[in-house]
Amino acid sequence: MTDALRRVTPVVRVAPAKLNLTLAVVGRREDGFHALHSVMVPLQIADRLALAPAFAPADRLHVTGATTSELGPADMGPPDRNLVLRAIGAARAACRARGVDADLPALAARLEKRIPVAAGLGGGSSDAAAAIDAALEAWGVAGAVAPADRASIASSLGSDVPFFLAGGWALVEGRGERVTPLPAPRGPEPAVLLVTPGTGVSTAAVFAAFAGGARPAPGAALASSRHLAGELAAGMTAARFVERAGIMAVANDLAPATAAVAPALVPFRRALGRVVGRPVGQSGSGPTLWVLYPSMAAAETAAIDVRAALAAGELPAAGERPPFVCATRILAGDPGSPVDAGLDRLAPTTHDGGT
Ligand code: C5P
Repeated sequence: MTDALRRVTPVVRVAPAKLNLTLAVVGRREDGFHALHSVMVPLQIADRLALAPAFAPADRLHVTGATTSELGPADMGPPDRNLVLRAIGAARAACRARGVDADLPALAARLEKRIPVAAGLGGGSSDAAAAIDAALEAWGVAGAVAPADRASIASSLGSDVPFFLAGGWALVEGRGERVTPLPAPRGPEPAVLLVTPGTGVSTAAVFAAFAGGARPAPGAALASSRHLAGELAAGMTAARFVERAGIMAVANDLAPATAAVAPALVPFRRALGRVVGRPVGQSGSGPTLWVLYPSMAAAETAAIDVRAALAAGELPAAGERPPFVCATRILAGDPGSPVDAGLDRLAPTTHDGGT
């Protein structure tokens, strides 16, 4: 074994998906990005990332899962565009900029995709956040890059990456770089049914459609998002949280833009609502649709119902691949993550119509 191989500790990380419970677009920034107000939560469904020494001069990436199932398109794009390799490169550059003199050998990354791709579930961003931390740990230099520096590496890679770096429930603002941890509701972890129609939707295309006028009247999603963030900050039970599903399900300002990009999603969402008999929301820029349940057992029963409806042709086709259907838990988050900083400004607003 060469010295370089000995200096790399193999690391395995779980990279969870996210759900946007609310998503308000509150303006356009000077950098062209949109300013957001979104309550985001981590899910149990996760990719797996493993780093080991590379037997090559450059970092390498091997992806499994996505090409063989309904998770996404067979072509995940060129490896140098993949967020995992970009994250490892950015972590190495940050170490060098901070004068870390240790050798930072090339890494072999193995990524097992379990989260649908281009689905509004943040899989690529979560992989990137996991890769930043995992690379620093693999090189044995985790202490060399401060949390604030990691956060700026995360922002440079994508708008959702800082949320994943923080871990846990959070209010996400700005372009995505302002992450205020929120306490998860008290009581049994709620569950969610995810239904991802088999058509990838580009986030950039959805924001472009929004900028082009495919948007709802402003204000309603923001009021709901603020109200939810305030209630969570003040402390909420899991039962009360699940009762809020109807309000969250309509609090996504990007839904009309997603519908403009992929019109087949509109009848699909309506039909899904009929099958499950509960409010159906859209995560992020879509196309993933979500339905909240008080327990994993209830979400699993709903998944069986939806698969049966698909088999019976009761849900219209909305893509070139079959939909991805999955029941999963909403995670309470990193037990170690601080949730008290900055909560004061989120005090519940006076009642805005939510029950
Ligand atoms: O940051 P990310 O790579 O996820 O963003 C993809 C695209 O979505 C951006 O290039 C931008 O067009 C749009 N976007 C935006 N405002 C945000 C996040 C993303 O306009 N807050």
